[in-house]
Amino acid sequence: MIRPLTISDFVPYHALRRQALASDPFSFHTTMADWNGRTLAEHERRFRYTLNQPDNFILGAWAEAEKGKQLVGMTAFERYQRERIRHKGYIWGVYLVPEQRGRGLGSKLFDTAVQMAQEFAGLRQIQLTVMAHNDHALRLYQSRGFQIFGHEKAAMIANGRVYDELHMQLLF
Ligand SMILES: CC(C)(COP(=O)(O)OP(=O)(O)OC[C@H]1O[C@@H](n2cnc3c(N)ncnc32)[C@H](O)[C@@H]1OP(=O)(O)O)[C@@H](O)C(=O)NCCC(=O)NCCS
Repeated sequence: MIRPLTISDFVPYHALRRQALASDPFSFHTTMADWNGRTLAEHERRFRYTLNQPDNFILGAWAEAEKGKQLVGMTAFERYQRERIRHKGYIWGVYLVPEQRGRGLGSKLFDTAVQMAQEFAGLRQIQLTVMAHNDHALRLYQSRGFQIFGHEKAAMIANGRVYDELHMQLLF
């Protein structure tokens, strides 16, 4: 099941974001130390703020588990709010727990987020960034029509290694 998260989903959202940083530490800018450096209240405030802005959403994928439905994936969309850049928004936080990967759920979540965003009046462009080494995610985005408009060299340094990052956009 895929549906937008609401304020009441903060606890599973928080757990999933934490899991993403643990399972795929080189797919995201945030480190576990960054994450743990903020209090739970700060994380919750940020979550509420994101959801309360016009045309923002965080889509969640839920799967049946022993303890009932469990949040297993997410894709977030935020729209720029200033008048001259309101035609643009960006996707972030694309993530699926490892056990659920490779069966089309990640694509479904991503496609649903893109479709929802495309319905917002006046939206003309969706952007995202992906680390250049992340072949799987890159292939997904390219197969959905996203094009690379920038290759940022040395965008991230993690554990002494230097990573490039690709900036992508879908124009419609
Ligand atoms: C990116 C992610 C969400 C994709 O989810 P998924 O459910 O595994 O992806 P899907 O099964 O829907 O496959 C998506 C595409 O990736 C490709 N793919 C699938 N399995 C793959 C694999 N093992 N290796 C390479 N490419 C693969 C396929 O081309 C597929 O395209 P298709 O739908 O045209 O067949 C998931 O891999 C993930 O959470 N990765 C870790 C976090 C991350 O890197 N996020 C992206 C940050 S920018």
